[in-house]
Amino acid sequence: MPLEVLFFGAGAIGAFYASRVARNANTNVSVVCRSNYSAVKASGFQITSSQYGDYNWTPTRTFNSPESARKSGVNWDFVVVSTKALPNVSDDSKLLEGLVGPKTAVVLIQNGLGVERPYSQRFPQATILSAVTIASCAQPSNGHIKHNRWTRINVGPYFSDSSPSAEVKAKPTAQNQTFVDLLLKGGIKDAIADTHEKLQLVRWHKIAINASMNPSAVLSGGSTNEAMSNDPELSRHLQGVMEEVLTTAPKVVGKPFPAGFATAEQILRSTRKNTSGSKPSMLLDWEGGKLMELEVILGNPIRLAREKGYEMPRMQTLYALLKMAEKNREAQKQNDAKGGSKL
Ligand SMILES: NC(=O)c1ccc[n+]([C@@H]2O[C@H](COP(=O)([O-])OP(=O)(O)OC[C@H]3O[C@@H](n4cnc5c(N)ncnc54)[C@H](OP(=O)(O)O)[C@@H]3O)[C@@H](O)[C@H]2O)c1
Repeated sequence: MPLEVLFFGAGAIGAFYASRVARNANTNVSVVCRSNYSAVKASGFQITSSQYGDYNWTPTRTFNSPESARKSGVNWDFVVVSTKALPNVSDDSKLLEGLVGPKTAVVLIQNGLGVERPYSQRFPQATILSAVTIASCAQPSNGHIKHNRWTRINVGPYFSDSSPSAEVKAKPTAQNQTFVDLLLKGGIKDAIADTHEKLQLVRWHKIAINASMNPSAVLSGGSTNEAMSNDPELSRHLQGVMEEVLTTAPKVVGKPFPAGFATAEQILRSTRKNTSGSKPSMLLDWEGGKLMELEVILGNPIRLAREKGYEMPRMQTLYALLKMAEKNREAQKQNDAKGGSKL
């Protein structure tokens, strides 16, 4: 029997990794699409990558909704969630009902913290695998996936219980390794299998970068990471946010960062040299009039720290300002749609 893998949210990141997993023998890879459904159903995905070359990939099955995936009756081994994480807009875990069976592992390839909670609460018996990637991908037109650079992905089992027994850990750890092997055999050479604690620290470390650069890029009027890190005053601000996150994370997770995780200064030094001119995802979303992943990148880290008695005032300031900016813009959009005057 082939392995059955379903990617839910086949956008930039989902379609890229799906096309690599599909390289494995005896593995069917299917997708749930939304706005790119007609293009993908008609001609599959066209992937452009300086690392892997240009290739076409047609999924085993292309669904237009979770409902049609459910109707297929397939027993999924892995359901990979690669939608944007917007818990304030929709609880995507609800959409997976009927797709997660006794053997299914749910894999979350999403930025942010606390993304696992809704899935582990809705599917307490299922394995939840948590994945963090630093790959850079885009979908410039429906079905065209541009892999810009990097491929690293860390994957670890997620346990809601703070000290699960060896027996509880065994099956998810094995499923985690199977998923990482699918990535490795698909040509993702830096796919890494981690423990729960290590993966949570990887998430926090990425938050240090995303939560400092992304909101600041929006609030400073559309700056690139390079421009901000080369500006003396903004660079101090970025370093302050990163250090706040990097000193709080070990206290929340209960483990120090292992050796080899870049310091705030090292991150800034390498960002100053990044002349690609690329903009952080939150800025692209803001400029495109889309909702930003504010809750998982700013709100959840603040709340997780608060639950343990720690405040992050720099993060809280960014969160409060940007949340209100987004609220005002959404209100303005609604007002414009009604043909009203400027609020
Ligand atoms: N892109 C990157 O380079 C990158 C790098 C690292 C991490 N990430 C993280 O990866 C996650 C995905 O990001 P992305 O850039 O791949 O976003 P994306 O290109 O917007 O892809 C998300 C996809 O999910 C689809 N989707 C959302 N809700 C759906 C639903 N109910 N049913 C079916 N499809 C649905 C979207 O469809 P529509 O187009 O119709 O909305 C879209 O195709 C985010 O958490 C992001 O922060 C991205």
